[in-house]
Amino acid sequence: MTTFRIAPSILSADFARLGEEVRNVVTAGADIIHFDVMDNHYVPNLTIGPLVCEAIRPHVQVPIDVHLMVKPVDRIIPDFAKAGANIITFHPEASDHVDRSLQLIRDNGCKSGLVFNPGTPLHYLEHVMDKIDIILIMSVNPGFGGQSFIPQALKKIAEARRMIDESGRDIMLEVDGGIKIDNIAAAAAAGADTFVAGSAIFGKPDYKAVIDAMRAELAK
Ligand code: DX5
Ligand code: ZN
Repeated sequence: MTTFRIAPSILSADFARLGEEVRNVVTAGADIIHFDVMDNHYVPNLTIGPLVCEAIRPHVQVPIDVHLMVKPVDRIIPDFAKAGANIITFHPEASDHVDRSLQLIRDNGCKSGLVFNPGTPLHYLEHVMDKIDIILIMSVNPGFGGQSFIPQALKKIAEARRMIDESGRDIMLEVDGGIKIDNIAAAAAAGADTFVAGSAIFGKPDYKAVIDAMRAELAK
């Protein structure tokens, strides 16, 4: 049976009360904390770095999943590992040496993965499947929370699922962008097992109600 994981993106949390926000969302049932790092270079927005990761680390027992939307990639990886990240993913087109960056993440004791924008082909995976622990399919263009789910992502999730199954490896398949109660089941049916949700969770007063409703959709 598939293990489904809900990964709230703290991009939509109240940054003035971040410790309380991450504690609350974990109490509400979050399996993972999704941590969006934007550099105002690879993507047109600027968010949070290793200092903030280190600050929230003692507040949560669940894995912290660092989604790097930065270019270059490599020099920030050891900093996030030291700051307590458990998973680090990056966009292959933002690294000059994808294999080296993946290895660097593992050498720093974290799970490694690649992120695919709506327009980025999956062929980057072809020669590095043995260095991948997680594949992240973007269902919006990266840079902002609160955008609408791009339905074409479902086909790509299915394609990534086929590649994972063919590899016989234990690789997580995460989807990120516009995930809500009413489309999470479609993403799961396409093959995703890990669901990032920012505005859908932090935009509502009762985080547990949203996470429970998402789990109910996944159980159908
Ligand atoms: C977008 C980020 C997402 C985003 C998700 O670049 O990678 O993680 O915060 O937010 P929602 O769920 O609001 O689309
Ligand atoms: Zn993200």
